[in-house]
Amino acid sequence: MRTLTVALSDQAYDIHIGSGVLDRTQLIVSHLPAERVAVVSNSVVAPLYLQRLVAPLRADGVRVTEIVLPDGERHKTWETLNSIFDALLADRCDRTTTVVALGGGVIGDLAGFAAATYQRGVPFIQVPTTLLAQVDSSVGGKTGINHPRGKNMIGAFWQPKVVVADTDVLTTLPDRELSAGMAEVIKYGLIRDLPFLQWLEANVERLMERDADALAYAIERSCANKAEVVAGDERETAKDNGRALLNLGHTFGHAIETGLGYGELLHGEAVAAGTVMAAELSRRLGWIDAADVARVRELLIRAKLPVVGARLGIDRYLDLMGHDKKVFAGRLRLVLLRQLGEATTLADVPVSEICAAIDTCCS
Ligand code: NAD
Ligand code: GLY
Repeated sequence: MRTLTVALSDQAYDIHIGSGVLDRTQLIVSHLPAERVAVVSNSVVAPLYLQRLVAPLRADGVRVTEIVLPDGERHKTWETLNSIFDALLADRCDRTTTVVALGGGVIGDLAGFAAATYQRGVPFIQVPTTLLAQVDSSVGGKTGINHPRGKNMIGAFWQPKVVVADTDVLTTLPDRELSAGMAEVIKYGLIRDLPFLQWLEANVERLMERDADALAYAIERSCANKAEVVAGDERETAKDNGRALLNLGHTFGHAIETGLGYGELLHGEAVAAGTVMAAELSRRLGWIDAADVARVRELLIRAKLPVVGARLGIDRYLDLMGHDKKVFAGRLRLVLLRQLGEATTLADVPVSEICAAIDTCCS
């Protein structure tokens, strides 16, 4: 097991990564203020892993409420959130109940938002089961739900007490979901870690074949990058080059996800297509060259990710991007590449260049 720490000044917490950590019940029990948890999972993950998590907890004397939600991004809604509150109230969960998210990013975001708001906030633990959740969404405390007008538009910052990422659970993950997680892994290399990007270029096939050592290394390196960024700008308030850098490709990607309808493309797939748009725009601004854009595309293709955007029409893209949370004081800020391994935020990018980049990447 490898352990990293997210060094937040008032609430530092550990990320435990490794084979079989799901069975190390003490990693969870040691963080419970009372012997009471509510485990939130979904109809796909629960049959695979819920009993493995809760049976030892019950054997340890912990009272467990099981909440199994429908699967999928289209259920990341107010209605599903409310069903979590219904279950917590029905089972008389009180303020000492710890909410545990067992699932991918959708479950983590929903359960985390429920934990942030139930009785004005209860403790929260993340047990991520997708690659995307293990390298990104379970770390950093962003929680929330979608609104028909925009992705993740309603939510809260609510940090977990601990993150327990068992690499063995990735063996049951569908190939397409593994690829979606790779979009976020590649992101860390592109925005701030050139040696990791080079390692990915040399090892992407090992990751796609689920080589356990390669996966563990990529997860650890991704979490280390995320932990550093989050520790520097926990609530994404830095005007420039703070936590927003983690959203390379996301403003375009969120527009694609919302424009197509949630669940049509996976989040990571939309981010991959958005990353190519961000790279192309960076080239148009003269920061990187065509060979760099080709390098980005090539790596994403080797990770079996889409590199062509959805044909939503330019006006629809601009409208949806205008709703993005990266709009700061009314100005759209984009995350772009100064060079491979170094990203920057930039406001007031000429709209003509944004349109041209989208157009190039949709044809
Ligand atoms: P997901 O949660 O929908 O999981 C993907 C699919 O894999 C689902 O069908 C799920 O049931 C299934 N699954 C999960 N674990 C499995 C396992 N071990 N074996 C078999 N199947 C398994 O999607 P995701 O890609 O994990 O997360 C995407 C979500 O995360 C999006 O809503 C996105 O907005 C959010 N996100 C949040 C943050 C954050 O910082 N909070 C960061 C990135 C993404
Ligand atoms: N996934 C972006 C962030 O956590 O800030």
